Amino acid sequence: MTENKNRIVSGMRPTGKLHLGHYFGVLKNWVNLQKEFESFFFIADWHALTTKYNQTDDMKRNVEDVLLDWLASGIDPNISTIYLQSLVPETAQLHIYLSMITPQNWVERDPTLKDLAKIMKDKQENMSNLSYGLFGYPVLMSADIMLFNSNFVPVGIDQVAHVELTRDIARRFNNIYNVELFNEPQPKLTQIPLLKGLDGNKMGKSFNNDIKISDTAEITEKKFRTAITDRNRIRRDDKGDPDNCEVVYDYWKIFGSKEEQDEICEGCKMATIGCAECKKRLTAKINEYMMPIREKRSELEKQPDYLKNIIYEGSKKAQQKAKETIDKVEQAVKMYK
Ligand code: TRP
Ligand code: SF4
Repeated sequence: MTENKNRIVSGMRPTGKLHLGHYFGVLKNWVNLQKEFESFFFIADWHALTTKYNQTDDMKRNVEDVLLDWLASGIDPNISTIYLQSLVPETAQLHIYLSMITPQNWVERDPTLKDLAKIMKDKQENMSNLSYGLFGYPVLMSADIMLFNSNFVPVGIDQVAHVELTRDIARRFNNIYNVELFNEPQPKLTQIPLLKGLDGNKMGKSFNNDIKISDTAEITEKKFRTAITDRNRIRRDDKGDPDNCEVVYDYWKIFGSKEEQDEICEGCKMATIGCAECKKRLTAKINEYMMPIREKRSELEKQPDYLKNIIYEGSKKAQQKAKETIDKVEQAVKMYK
C-alpha cells in the first residue's frame, strides 16, 4: 500500500534538546504528514559535523535527545522510517556521485552557504576555515533527499534554495546519464514558526530564550517570569495592551481558548489582571498541554535499549531502500559491476 504513497524526507541536526519552536514549527507538522506520506525522518549527524567537527563530545547525547523529542512528540516508528544519517552510508556514496556532476558555481550561489560563511567570518574564523565538507553540504542534503527519490521535502523557508538545488542536480543527473531515475522534489513549506523566544527574538538555543519540550513545569514557569510583556505596562495598576505584548499574549493565542483570550485581553486592558498572574495562568496552560509529551519522554528515557533498537531498525529499513537507489545510480553511471 505504501508503494502508491508520495514520499517525504526531512532531517534535523542533532544540536541537543529541542524547544517549543521545533515542536510547533516542525514536529507537529511531521506528525500529521506521516499519516499521508511514506515518511523518512533522519538525524543529520554528518550535517552537524560540517560546523561542529571539533565539538563532538555531546554527539551521542544529542542524537538521543533529538530522538526522544521526536518520539515523545508523536513521530511513530511504526509508521515512519526514523534513521541516523551515518548509519545509512549509502548517503555518502550518493553524495560522491552527485558531487561529481554538480557545477561548483551552483554550490557557490547557495544563499544559506553565504550566510554561514558570514557567520563564520563574524566569529573571527576567516573564510578559509569554511571546510570542504561545509562547502559541500547542500550537495549532501541533495543526497539525503534523492536517496529515497522523495517527492516532497518539508522544510522551512530558509531551506528552499537547497531543495531547488536538489531539483537541478536531479535533472542534471537524468540528462547526463540519459535516464529517468530521479524525480524533481518539491519543497513542502512548513508554516512560519509561531513562537517567539521569551525575549521577543526568534526562539533559539543559542539565544537562551527557549522553552524546551523536556523542560519541567517548574522550569517552564520560572523561565516565563522573564518573558517580555507590554513594555509600557510597568506597574501593576498600569493598563496594558495585549497587542503590544509581544511574547506572552502571542502564546495565549496558541494555548488559550477564544474565551480565555478574551478574558485575558479584557483583564489586561482594565488592569484587573497583573502580568505575573497572567504568566502563571499561561504557563499552567502550556504545562497542561505539554504534560503527556513530557511524561512520554521521561518514560522513553528509561529505555535506552529500545531507543537504540529504533535507530538501528529504522536505519536498516532506510538502508534497504537506499541500496536500491545506489544500484540504479551505479548502473546509470555504468560503474563496473
Ligand atoms: N539542512 C537542514 C537544516 O539545517 C537539515 C537537513 C539535512 C535536511 N538534510 C536534509 C532537511 C534533507 C530536509 C531534507 O535544517
Ligand atoms: Fe501581556 Fe498578560 Fe501582562 Fe497583558 S497582562 S501585558 S497580556 S503579560
